[in-house]
Amino acid sequence: MIILGIESSCDDTSAAVIKDCVLLSNVIASQKVHEAYGGVVPELASRAHQQNIVPVVSEAIRQAGINKSEIDAIAFTRGPGLPGSLHVGTAFSKGLALALNIPLVDVNHLHGHVLAHFIKEDEDTEVPDFPFLCLLISGGNSQIIKVESPYDMGIMGQTIDDAAGEAFDKCAKVMGLPYPGGPIIDQLAQQGDPKRFKFAKPHIEGYNYSFSGLKTSFLYTLRDELKLNPNFIEENKADLAASLQKTIIDILMDKFGKAIKDTGIKTVAIGGGVSANSGVRAAVQQYCDRRGIKAFIPKRTFTTDNAAMIAVAGHYKFLRGETCDITAPPFARVII
Ligand code: KG4
Repeated sequence: MIILGIESSCDDTSAAVIKDCVLLSNVIASQKVHEAYGGVVPELASRAHQQNIVPVVSEAIRQAGINKSEIDAIAFTRGPGLPGSLHVGTAFSKGLALALNIPLVDVNHLHGHVLAHFIKEDEDTEVPDFPFLCLLISGGNSQIIKVESPYDMGIMGQTIDDAAGEAFDKCAKVMGLPYPGGPIIDQLAQQGDPKRFKFAKPHIEGYNYSFSGLKTSFLYTLRDELKLNPNFIEENKADLAASLQKTIIDILMDKFGKAIKDTGIKTVAIGGGVSANSGVRAAVQQYCDRRGIKAFIPKRTFTTDNAAMIAVAGHYKFLRGETCDITAPPFARVII
């Protein structure tokens, strides 16, 4: 079964082709236009999607070495995401599905991130056993998800304010670093002392996360230190980055570890843009190795937004005949 996946929920335009979940192509066009603004500008994102979508889809089909007529269904991200961006991918998918006279499958972007672990690079790729726990950490979400099957997943805990990626990006911004700051903090942290600075950690019940207190305490530390030394950030950026990253990892692992312990589940996975962070990857791997738990750490290409994961999520829905109507609108927030 050949599925064409299309992803356009935020600032990456992506198209991928899979055959029975084996990856044939995965093309991603990232939008550089937002860098000057320190964050994603929704209107510019939709315009860039409009420019990118035709060449990206053509390239994915070309790299897959298939003919358009061999595609069995088109899976597209219906939400959550930026409304304008979602509209471009949704409208394009509908047009192509009509032209090729094939079914459309609507995919929840977050299901895509979870099911990214079922993208096979070849027939031998190992995939998680059910049930497994997934730590989904990105610029917009921080969730602990219990995954019973490709069709049955439930949120055990999630952030009550900022997402982990926002904590990285917003703290990086006050340090004067470009957007997105997460990867730069990751780089800087490798030369810094993670114990140098202490930032606030939340004390909230259950499996939920909070990152806004950390953000405030980071800001106050900079404000106080800058009064004494105007070059404080420049002189201490590696230690600041390392201490910030360690605090975020401690917060993430505290609740994820609690969920692993309480459920007794022996297979875990991570996903979303922040799962590209080298400290997060090492912490999850080490936690699992010590306890005989199997950890699935995705390749970096599959951590950020990509259409391969949308195609895989679409594959499973299509297997059960779950297609969507040509009139289906995108959803910015509502989870499908
Ligand atoms: O999943 P994603 O591409 O899309 C959103 O939901 O936004 O995640 C993007 C987020 C950004 O906050 C970015 O700073 C963060 O992932 N990120 C990282 C790293 N790579 C990307 N954060 C920390 N370390 C990284 N290496």
